[in-house]
Amino acid sequence: VDKPNCITCKAMVAWEAGKDLVMEEVEVSPPQPHEIRIKVVCTSLCRTDITAWESQAIFPRIFGHEASGIVESVGEGVTEFVEGDHVLTVFIGECKMCKHCESGKSNMCQVLGLERRGVMHSDQRTRFSIEGKPVYHYCAVSSFSEYTVVHSGCAVKVSLQAPLEKICLLSCGVAAGLGAAWNVADISKGSTLVVFGLGTVGLAVAQGAKLRGASQIIGVDINPEKYKKAFGVTDFLNPNDYEEPIQQVIKRISGGGTDYSFECIGNTGMVTTALQSCCDGWGLTVTLGVPKVKPEIESHYSAFLSGKTLKGSLFGGWKPKSDLPELVNKYMNQEIQIDEFITHNLPFEDINKAFTLMKEGKCLRCVIHM
Ligand code: APR
Ligand code: ZN
Repeated sequence: VDKPNCITCKAMVAWEAGKDLVMEEVEVSPPQPHEIRIKVVCTSLCRTDITAWESQAIFPRIFGHEASGIVESVGEGVTEFVEGDHVLTVFIGECKMCKHCESGKSNMCQVLGLERRGVMHSDQRTRFSIEGKPVYHYCAVSSFSEYTVVHSGCAVKVSLQAPLEKICLLSCGVAAGLGAAWNVADISKGSTLVVFGLGTVGLAVAQGAKLRGASQIIGVDINPEKYKKAFGVTDFLNPNDYEEPIQQVIKRISGGGTDYSFECIGNTGMVTTALQSCCDGWGLTVTLGVPKVKPEIESHYSAFLSGKTLKGSLFGGWKPKSDLPELVNKYMNQEIQIDEFITHNLPFEDINKAFTLMKEGKCLRCVIHM
């Protein structure tokens, strides 16, 4: 077998925080040992890409982490994938060998965990360059490029029948929301919950709760446009419509606080509100949002004295390789909805429009077609 060569292709490169991405010709190096090179087919824009693009300091960089594609070539030692396999990328990998991968309680792989420095896990270098100068990765995925290189532990093989232009949403947002409802909170039938933030992540929590038979799903958002898509939400609350704090309204309409509350905004102030909105005794608050500012959480300790729990999560507790193929099957069997989250489809060169739509609160997911 011939060794794969360097590829030159188009990528949407971020040169500066908050500035429009620029289409560039980039060199994509061959996959190194245990890596695969992927021809990206579709990538959807997630709020976390925007948060990182606005607030981080590593540039030039190729963002994008919610994606589907086709394996173009494989590096040495890769046995799981062959050219032509269909895959989803994942921003936390699964090595299947570390303490966390072996534990049934965690998806925090210690080898392929969240990559924050813009380089590959194995050698702390980049696989992208422009005229020989490095272009940094994002979450070791970087799907805003026609081709990308990922660790083979950060990709999940999926059925050839599954539509790549839809299932890319399971690479992050929709899966994270469903997993928070099912794995992290383990919502039981007849229970009540409140979801703060009705973007894709929050609405996916609502969908997961509905499928578990929750009796009351309260959705809170400051953007009235977000009340159009129900996904099982039974009561909509806009905090701007009330004089009193929203947690008081929630307590009143849920008979003293909900069984569960979910923070799906990325605002630590709302974590406090979410804790105050769930009930004493067994109330559980789950965080999904990724804050841009003020990472500290405030709470009076009486919340915990009265029996409440605050629980964190990343990617809804899913172990990507072990669990994502089953979620794809659920979609194929029409047991979960994905299409309803896709409000826009755009060609690759229009990716900046997707950023604008999301910043202005005018979309759920924009799927970018490469
Ligand atoms: N109160 C209520 N709702 C708010 C507030 C607020 N103070 N601020 C923002 N929102 C709403 C927005 O109007 C939007 O509908 O929160 C929603 C967030 O949705 P998106 O921006 O579409 O984000 P999404 O992709 O769903 O991600 C949500 O999870 O993965 C993380 O980084 C991601 O922190 C983000 C969160
Ligand atoms: Zn691991």
